[in-house]
Amino acid sequence: MPKHFLSIENLTQRYPDGQGGELTVFEHASFGIDEGEFVCILGHSGCGKSTIMNILAGLAEPTSGAVLMDGFAVSGPSLDRGVVFQNYSLLPWLSALKNVTFAVQARHRDWSKAQVRAHALHHLAMVGIKDGAEFRKPSQLSGGMRQRVSIARAFANEPKLLLLDEPFGALDALTRGTIQDELIKVWSGTKQTVFMITHDIDEAMLLADRILLMTNGPYARVAESVEITIPRPRTRDEIVEHPNYYAIRNHLVHFLASRSADMAGQAGEATPSIETVHIDRTMPAAVDPGGDSPAEATLRAVNE
Ligand SMILES: Nc1ncnc2c1ncn2[C@@H]1O[C@H](COP(=O)(O)OP(=O)(O)OP(=O)(O)O)[C@@H](O)[C@H]1O
Ligand SMILES: [Mg+2]
Repeated sequence: MPKHFLSIENLTQRYPDGQGGELTVFEHASFGIDEGEFVCILGHSGCGKSTIMNILAGLAEPTSGAVLMDGFAVSGPSLDRGVVFQNYSLLPWLSALKNVTFAVQARHRDWSKAQVRAHALHHLAMVGIKDGAEFRKPSQLSGGMRQRVSIARAFANEPKLLLLDEPFGALDALTRGTIQDELIKVWSGTKQTVFMITHDIDEAMLLADRILLMTNGPYARVAESVEITIPRPRTRDEIVEHPNYYAIRNHLVHFLASRSADMAGQAGEATPSIETVHIDRTMPAAVDPGGDSPAEATLRAVNE
């Protein structure tokens, strides 16, 4: 197996089910993420996405299995891994600016106050928190602005790995679009690796290099890795025109609508490996080495 920047190996999570029994959320989840990749994970509510993220962040211990980053086992939180939680978590008694400087100071203890402040202001401005908004406390900001501050704080720390748990879930469509664009702009200028949970297929297709698909729980598993074969830079308006867009989108919708339930694991089943799905409608059927029918030739799934 090739070495990945982030390796998730045989992760299993069980919880007491509250009735004296046990709930197996997922079993033997294994996948890898390369340095600089932007990977989204899609799956129905309760399949264990946040649980996986908390384990990657070092905030929770799996029942069994391991997470390796840069070859080292993840244990406990680290400044190398920045997290934006499902419900943003700013310190309510500090201004937006201080929420960011607080984190930057922890990372760069040798920086002067002025350096820390300039760095924080730069990252806040990148997500549109400026013109006085940076001096307001979270309760004086809108939900969208609070989420921008969380994102600025995570980016300002320049973690090697950025973990985003439905960061735009609570935002209206317009704000969501603006912050997605900002996220891509910031990510394009760094070599950060991003792992993001979302429920939004279009958001995942706009942002990700790859989308991991999880089957329903209990006994959930990561079943497929779908490559987003649409070149960057991508814009919301243009990607829908790309010949691969609807082919990939239909595959994702079909998975979530029916296959995620059909493929849901059973206790004790041997866990099959993740399938890589590569859909490319731009490739002429004539030069396709597989020699399938033109329709088949463009959709190919191979074991990793
Ligand atoms: N500390 C805990 N104790 C017991 N059960 C838990 C605990 N944390 C999570 N669970 C259970 O694990 C399952 C997965 O939860 P998780 O929050 O990871 O789901 P999710 O995929 O992030 O869902 P959503 O999309 O709704 O955020 C759920 O059934 C949940 O009830
Ligand atoms: Mg969740």
